[in-house]
Amino acid sequence: AENGMPKEDGLDQSLSLLREGYLYIPNRRRSFQENIFETRLMGKPAICMGGKEAAKLFYDPAKFQREGAAPKRVVKTLFGEGGVQTLDGEAHQHRKAAFMSLMAPKEVMRLTDIFVRQWMETAQKWTQQSEVVLYEEAKELLCRIACEWGGVPLPEDDVKRRTSELSAMFESSVSAGPEYWKTRRARRKAEKWVGGLIEEVRQNTLHPPEESALYVFSHHRELDGQLLDTKTAAVEVLNILRPITAVSIYLAFTALALHQFPEEKPKLMDVDEPYTKYFVQEVRRFYPFFPFTGAKVKTDFEWSGMDFKEGTLALLDLYGTNHDPELWENPDLFQPARFEDWDKSPFDFIPQGGGDYYAGHRCAGEWITIELMKVSVDFLVNRLSYTVPDQDISFSMTSMPSMPKSGFIVRDISINL
Ligand code: HEM
Repeated sequence: AENGMPKEDGLDQSLSLLREGYLYIPNRRRSFQENIFETRLMGKPAICMGGKEAAKLFYDPAKFQREGAAPKRVVKTLFGEGGVQTLDGEAHQHRKAAFMSLMAPKEVMRLTDIFVRQWMETAQKWTQQSEVVLYEEAKELLCRIACEWGGVPLPEDDVKRRTSELSAMFESSVSAGPEYWKTRRARRKAEKWVGGLIEEVRQNTLHPPEESALYVFSHHRELDGQLLDTKTAAVEVLNILRPITAVSIYLAFTALALHQFPEEKPKLMDVDEPYTKYFVQEVRRFYPFFPFTGAKVKTDFEWSGMDFKEGTLALLDLYGTNHDPELWENPDLFQPARFEDWDKSPFDFIPQGGGDYYAGHRCAGEWITIELMKVSVDFLVNRLSYTVPDQDISFSMTSMPSMPKSGFIVRDISINL
């Protein structure tokens, strides 16, 4: 091809992307025998890239930008307009610093303390029920802790509807038709709810803890010294509440991993041992969550004999990089011990994005995701007993986000003394 990249034939591949889901980019990287190729998506040329070197390139802020990269539909459902995901340069770094201030070790500990307490209360309720759908229960549990940690009051009567508004945004962000409009409505309601609370904080009638997301974004000032407008501040508070609720997907996969690989359980009896972290890392590497992330070529440049043209959409293959046979031995086997000698590169293990947290767009919530999963491993392995009835535990490699079809049903729950 004229730009030095292999090029996929055809007018448009958007349908193949939807049809092949998590495997769309990896399938073509394999058949082209190249980590970077060109295709056409949504009627325009697009570049797909995967692997460690490509990830390093993708996270170079001189070469790629986020403004204008995400499709409007995704911004209006999943991200929210004006949120940190869509910013670049100094404006991004300044906003991102506010997110990262919420992730100080002391705050991570405050969150896990809240989580352990709420896990216990939830587990007690489960013992009164004949069976529970773990994913559904986990969403509610995580919505509760997200709000408590975030300084957001959540009356008991509102738990169900707030859980469903927050989940709609990540469960149906790539939907079409009525489902899409339902998701838009859920976001509108949630922004109105959180926006109202931000107004109260600013009028000094609501007093969340100073370290909480609600406080921080109510008082955050832009580089020009202005407060965020109410809607943008609400979008950012939701950028904390929504993804914490989405950790429920990883909790369902954690339970699935324990079920599929029961030989792991005896190795997980002491959560403070490094093996628990390796197990959690392997769950995040092995199971599909975000297929890819996107950016736009910032200015024309050449790299490794290939021409990148300004304005072209670029997708970085997150799932495929985590399963790249050049980077991972037997990538399709579940082997937590592989993390024993992983070199902690920011570019090969990228379920929540790669690169630097502060300078780039890597997930602000990666550390707390890991801690929430560790606590949950402890509950599922050591603190609870349960049985797993026959059910459809398969998960799709095409529908996004994926998860065990049954939502993971458990029965006969008791708390270990
Ligand atoms: C960004 C995945 C949990 C907050 C991202 C990105 C991915 C991701 C793939 C984009 C990276 C990029 O575009 O380069 C996940 C997954 C999670 C999760 C799979 C598991 C549930 C969380 C949590 C929080 C969070 C718990 C916060 C409490 C954010 C924020 C961004 C982000 C604020 C935008 C960062 C930026 O643009 O600079 N996440 N995330 N995420 N995530 Fe997460």
